[in-house]
Amino acid sequence: MERLDREADKWLAQLQPLDTQLEDDLERAKDDPAFFAERFLTFRPYSYQIAVLIDKSKRITVRMSRQAGKTTTIAVRAIWFAATHPRTLSLIVAPSLRQSMIMMDRVQGFLYAMKTQDRKALIGKIQRTVIWFKNGSQMVALPCSPNLLRGYTAHQVLIDEAAFFRDDEVIFYNVLYPMMATTNGTLIASSTPWGKDSVFYKINSHPEISKGWSKHYVPWQACVKPNGPIEPSFIEEVKQVTPIERFRREYDAEFVEDEDSYFPQDLITKCIDPDLAMIDESAILAFHRR
Ligand SMILES: Nc1ncnc2c1ncn2[C@@H]1O[C@H](COP(=O)(O)OP(=O)(O)OP(=O)(O)O)[C@@H](O)[C@H]1O
Ligand SMILES: [Mg+2]
Repeated sequence: MERLDREADKWLAQLQPLDTQLEDDLERAKDDPAFFAERFLTFRPYSYQIAVLIDKSKRITVRMSRQAGKTTTIAVRAIWFAATHPRTLSLIVAPSLRQSMIMMDRVQGFLYAMKTQDRKALIGKIQRTVIWFKNGSQMVALPCSPNLLRGYTAHQVLIDEAAFFRDDEVIFYNVLYPMMATTNGTLIASSTPWGKDSVFYKINSHPEISKGWSKHYVPWQACVKPNGPIEPSFIEEVKQVTPIERFRREYDAEFVEDEDSYFPQDLITKCIDPDLAMIDESAILAFHRR
């Protein structure tokens, strides 16, 4: 946290007075993330994405179909929050290194598509896993490894693919919750469903645990064109070629176990190693060609 304060002071010291129009727009954007997305990121969210962006609850769960726009929504919310809330830390967490990199690529895609003038006014430094904003805010993306995550104090924690965490009880309650103890921070857990022996299942469906959570549920019917990005013909095709349990899980966004899977889903989740990067296949091929 000390380092965050030092860096924040450094960027704040360099902050130039903003152009009046930019300042007005930023002020409006503070309470209107959909306006922020359109004005600064040239991105028009669908209505179910706006619902997540404007949700002021402290605990938010987002259960959506595959390809509904989960990663995109988290990326936009993280940028909006950092840009309009000075001196805050937004932490983005994903099950693996690869998935946190995908998230950061999405964030960077938005930042590099901004008008140069806006980007220069708002963004200090863009690195692979960390982004500095000139208002002293910081965005960090990490895989869900307890070793990497410990030690942060966050104002907003955004989790992508929350159903796929190994040791998720430890990650949620021993690592992520304490980060927000002093900040009254917001926790957003977004995912397509997976196993029932998971925190993500409980915050969506457990009669007691789910009570404290604001819930967003978006099955495929709610996110086909023109209301979302999915082509209706794609859904027809997937229905033909996908086992029914998997379709209900991935597109109806229901918690359904595979009838004929060899390994239980929760065992598969336990095997995800957050620290492993994808193997570079070209390196293997080059090795065998030698
Ligand atoms: N509001 C939007 N307008 C246009 N395209 C969008 C919008 N939101 C998302 N998309 C597009 O939809 C596609 C899926 O988005 P995204 O990767 O965020 O979905 P996802 O739910 O995270 O997918 P997955 O289940 O594979 O992780 C991407 O090509 C993205 O650019
Ligand atoms: Mg995604």
